[in-house]
Amino acid sequence: MTTTLALRRPDDFHLHLRDGARMASVIQDSARRFARAIVMPNLNPPITTVTAALEYRSRILACLNEGQDFTPMMTLFLTDHTSPAEIHAAAACEHIYAAKLYPAGSTTNSEHGVTAIESVHTALEAMQEAGLPLLVHGEVTDPHVDVFDREAAFIDRVLTPLLQRFRKLRVVFEHITTREAVHFVRNGPDTLAATITPHHLLNGRSAMFDGGLRPHLYCLPVLKREEDRQALVQAAVGGHPRFFLGTDSAPHPRTAKESACGCAGIYSAHGALELYAQIFESAGALNQLEQFAAGNGAVFYGLPGNSGRVTLEKRDWRVPDTLPFGDGEVVPLFAGEVCHWSLTDA
Ligand code: NCD
Ligand code: ZN
Repeated sequence: MTTTLALRRPDDFHLHLRDGARMASVIQDSARRFARAIVMPNLNPPITTVTAALEYRSRILACLNEGQDFTPMMTLFLTDHTSPAEIHAAAACEHIYAAKLYPAGSTTNSEHGVTAIESVHTALEAMQEAGLPLLVHGEVTDPHVDVFDREAAFIDRVLTPLLQRFRKLRVVFEHITTREAVHFVRNGPDTLAATITPHHLLNGRSAMFDGGLRPHLYCLPVLKREEDRQALVQAAVGGHPRFFLGTDSAPHPRTAKESACGCAGIYSAHGALELYAQIFESAGALNQLEQFAAGNGAVFYGLPGNSGRVTLEKRDWRVPDTLPFGDGEVVPLFAGEVCHWSLTDA
């Protein structure tokens, strides 16, 4: 008899959908698994206004099938020049759920990001007042800080003072990667939560160098030590309400990653839920998956739970080596490996 696992339909609280033909290639992978997704605004140029967010939303909806139940939850990209008026307009818009802080130069398409936290203080005040959550890419960009220490330095230099200054602002510390971040969120205020990706749960940094350089495991924040990975698994499966699912699925063309200067980002939407199930099962905590994937995030964002269900079954499938991506291809997470959980289409 096949083992099945039926869950409330989950949400992906951190997703890069890209745009145009590339978006058309990947969107069904998310829409088949997730009811809603927080859509990252780091297009080129970034989504910095309500108008641009609504236009992007229309392009996303146009990519979906008729009547398909998938809600893109739009976000604004904060810059040094984001005005309180734009924030208030975003908060008043039913389709915009948050604004994202990318330190300038921290990651893909972040050139227009925030150069110093002080330059967004008035925007953050407006967000706090209007109840619009702040999402943070939590890494300092100071070149003197070792790349593996940038998240821990961000906690000390930026996040701690920010939470003290803006005590009512809801903050999501995105894609956490370290023991320090787990500890910080666990012991932090109720206004602080974190997303955890499948790739940071599956891999420590040694995997990036296993038998040679593996560019498809390069992402930001970069993979950390095995002890960090274990701390993330404990956080994800531990039932704490302020850790939840965010894939950070971030597709790039194969050629852009297999390059002398490869870009950061791992594509996981094709099998994210199945891989989370595999991780939770290995940790002996399959019964915690629903809360992590379909409970905690909605509660933190103040959203109702989804009414639909999704069913996984214990059946092996081999992850394809490549998938179509616009006019090229993307190498997905776990390519060529066997995942033990499969999605069943209702
Ligand atoms: C993301 C991307 O490619 O847009 N890359 C990544 O490595 N995670 C950007 C981001 O979330 O940092
Ligand atoms: Zn991301």
